[in-house]
Amino acid sequence: MIQHPIIKDLAARKTSKGYDASKRVSQENMEIIYEALRLTASSINSQPWKFIVIESEQAKSRLEATFTDNNIYNRQHVSNGSHVILLAHNPNYTRGDYEKVVDTDIANGRGNKAEKERALSKFSFAESKTDASGSNGNWTKAQVYIALGNALHVLARLEIDGTPMEGINSKRIGEAFKEELNGFECEVALVVGYHHPDDINAKLPKSRLAREAVLQIL
Ligand SMILES: Cc1cc2nc3c(=O)[nH]c(=O)nc-3n(C[C@H](O)[C@H](O)[C@H](O)COP(=O)(O)O)c2cc1C
Repeated sequence: MIQHPIIKDLAARKTSKGYDASKRVSQENMEIIYEALRLTASSINSQPWKFIVIESEQAKSRLEATFTDNNIYNRQHVSNGSHVILLAHNPNYTRGDYEKVVDTDIANGRGNKAEKERALSKFSFAESKTDASGSNGNWTKAQVYIALGNALHVLARLEIDGTPMEGINSKRIGEAFKEELNGFECEVALVVGYHHPDDINAKLPKSRLAREAVLQIL
């Protein structure tokens, strides 16, 4: 294995299949994770996401109630993990949403008012990803997965365990967190915490396809 701290981190991180309910991720580390999510790169810097953190027992109960037979195996992670982050995307990202990005760029000194229209013209890229009904969820959801990957790397660095979960019921989460989601959709969540000594996955070796199978250098 390549002896570099990045590779060591990534090789050591494993999806947890069982959490120690007595262990909490510190506020200091949660703040690092939040900032990493916010700093995630996205197409045209669209940032079409919302990260909803399930921290309180009350919020956990609301989330637990959304699990159904076909994803019940994941519910224990909500109960025993420290925090759960719902990674939600905007399924109808509009020019108005992008204008907020452009205005923020101007406020942060990356652009100026005189060139605002030119900056806004980059929204044509989002339009090319939008169907006739105004839906561009395929594109915005892809951006959310970049945030997920970024968070997984940060967890590895901080030696915090995590479980990405597509095994959730998006529709039921949409109903249970209707107010907080405010039109956004959640199809993937991330549990963070510390694995239980009985977690089977922690003891298994890392396994990936061979480099030759996935990488071609031309
Ligand atoms: C997008 C995504 C969704 C996943 N969904 C689940 C899930 O619902 N439940 C679960 O236990 N693991 C889930 N996993 C974990 C994968 O099974 C795991 O990452 C993979 O087997 C590789 O193992 P490792 O993360 O330990 O390296 C998911 C992973 C990703 C990246």
